[in-house]
Amino acid sequence: MSMFGTNDEERTDLTKEESRYVRARSRKLLGSLIDPIKTRIYFAIFLGVISTALRVAGPALIALGIDWALPKAILRQYNELWIVVITYLSAALATSILTYLFLMLTARLAQQMLFDLRNRMFVHTQKLSVEFHERYTAGRVIARQTSDLESIAELLSGGLNELVIGGLFMTFTAIALFLLDPTSFLILFGALLPLGILTRWFQVRTNRGYRKQRVASSRLIQYFVETMTGIRAVKAFRKEKRNEEHFGGLVEDYRKHNAHLIQLFGIYDPGLIMIGNVTVAAILLSGGYRVLDGSLGIGVLTAAILYARRFFDPMEEIAIFYNSYQSAASALEKISGVLEEEPSVPEPTNPVSFESARGEVGFQGVEFKYSTGPVILKKFDLKIPAGQTIALVGTTGAGKSTLAKLIARFYDPSQGSVKLDGTDLREISNKDLRREVVMVTQEAYLFSGTVIENIQLGRPGATIDEVIAAAKAVGAHQFISKLPEGYETDVNKRGGRVSAGQRQLISFARAFLANPAVLILDEATSSLDIPSERMVQAGLKSLLAGRTAVIIAHRLSTVSIADRVLVMEHGEIIEDDSPSKLAAGTGKFAKLYQAWKDSLVQ
Ligand SMILES: Nc1ncnc2c1ncn2[C@@H]1O[C@H](COP(=O)(O)OP(=O)(O)O)[C@@H](O)[C@H]1O
Ligand SMILES: [Mg+2]
Repeated sequence: MSMFGTNDEERTDLTKEESRYVRARSRKLLGSLIDPIKTRIYFAIFLGVISTALRVAGPALIALGIDWALPKAILRQYNELWIVVITYLSAALATSILTYLFLMLTARLAQQMLFDLRNRMFVHTQKLSVEFHERYTAGRVIARQTSDLESIAELLSGGLNELVIGGLFMTFTAIALFLLDPTSFLILFGALLPLGILTRWFQVRTNRGYRKQRVASSRLIQYFVETMTGIRAVKAFRKEKRNEEHFGGLVEDYRKHNAHLIQLFGIYDPGLIMIGNVTVAAILLSGGYRVLDGSLGIGVLTAAILYARRFFDPMEEIAIFYNSYQSAASALEKISGVLEEEPSVPEPTNPVSFESARGEVGFQGVEFKYSTGPVILKKFDLKIPAGQTIALVGTTGAGKSTLAKLIARFYDPSQGSVKLDGTDLREISNKDLRREVVMVTQEAYLFSGTVIENIQLGRPGATIDEVIAAAKAVGAHQFISKLPEGYETDVNKRGGRVSAGQRQLISFARAFLANPAVLILDEATSSLDIPSERMVQAGLKSLLAGRTAVIIAHRLSTVSIADRVLVMEHGEIIEDDSPSKLAAGTGKFAKLYQAWKDSLVQ
């Protein structure tokens, strides 16, 4: 968790101090992105300044051509005209080249910053502990990596350029006009008042409109994702019709906000054109009189009109810049929040060297709660000798998975310590711990790739023969051979689809290949049907041989292969003995055992 707990973007009630902290955090991130490319950013700004200055020089050169070169040309002295035309062409050519360089450079810098940010996000989120991922849903991580990065990309590769170039252009144009003809400059200056009022009006409304549009679009996406990921439940409960109506409502909402925005532009754009035209007319009028009495050159008037006409061009982009800036800023705040998260189970700085473990697991005075929640596991001690197979049974919510997660160090205990061969897990490097302790869960996860690649994850670099041997050992070989391309079948391609039970067998093979000292199976056999479970029983025996094992299972067949049974209830171990002794007794396990036996008898 971060300071102030400000990473929860659902919170909108940040105190002043908290929001100052969040802004500082995202400024720091921005600084760290800019730092390595600082000199090139200065160079890009330099290019932008020069190219804009040259662009603004155009009308002034035309004025020079009309007022200075043209009279000479009338007297058949063409040199001046040529000088002006060539200068004009050179300035135009230089503007094009420099603008090209500016755009290329800024695009490259933007891409580099985004690349950097994307990578940092990926590496960092992947490194964070299970605790983070259980708290921060996949949907939110996806939102950070896609739409938030997208809005930053939009700002960097579009909005920012427009703002810099547009701002420079307007400033230089105003300066040029002031130098050329102060009267026209004053008229333009007068136009700034209606321009300011119109723009303010537009900004306030589009800002609100864009925010509503963003909310509507994220609702739309969220609803779409939820419906599609839960499509089986949707179909099973015939929810299609209701969903359609709800989705239709969201689409309508989104459309309404879009239409409103288009309407705003429909007012702002003609408004801008109007202000521009009135300004041009006023300059023409005042300039026309002055040309007539000889106090102003026709060329200067022409230039003044050109300046006034072009002055308003970048206005629209500048007016909507604030919107993309705002959405990028809030995206950066959220991303900086994720990047600030620390792994809740940190790697030891000086890990104890760990060659190979025997597999003795010890809990000493362990108490556990999830962050600030209630106590889940009440204080207890437990010793699991190396090589022992433990069956962990108990009702749902008793704390079995939690206890298992402590052995795999997905979490650290709130009190006391969990030890492997007498060494606190907190002192073992992640690499060693992952090698020695492997946990297989119900949601046996397959990555896209072939069956071989999926099993090889257990021990990268294992040969194909070793992979096949592992598959044979757990009883997975038979069905894999029957897949369209055998071990080379892509598990996510058509025809390569494997059932939940088959996934489980593949993940057993993966665990067998990993050959850990401690193996945890958390309801790992529960998605197998009875025949496949029979088949796995044999495989399970070879999977468990010679290592410490903790099996969480509901089936008696699985429990009966254990050396020792632990019965859990409300976060406590209430029974602890061999299966036969417990079955013969009068406790909870004996009752369960009787129920199991009855169900098998029919
Ligand atoms: N990530 C989590 N955050 C907060 N509470 C949790 C989390 N996972 C489990 N719990 C709570 O811990 C208790 C034990 O859960 P669990 O260990 O999964 O039980 P079991 O595996 O025996 O069904 C339950 O009350 C559950 O609500
Ligand atoms: Mg569980």
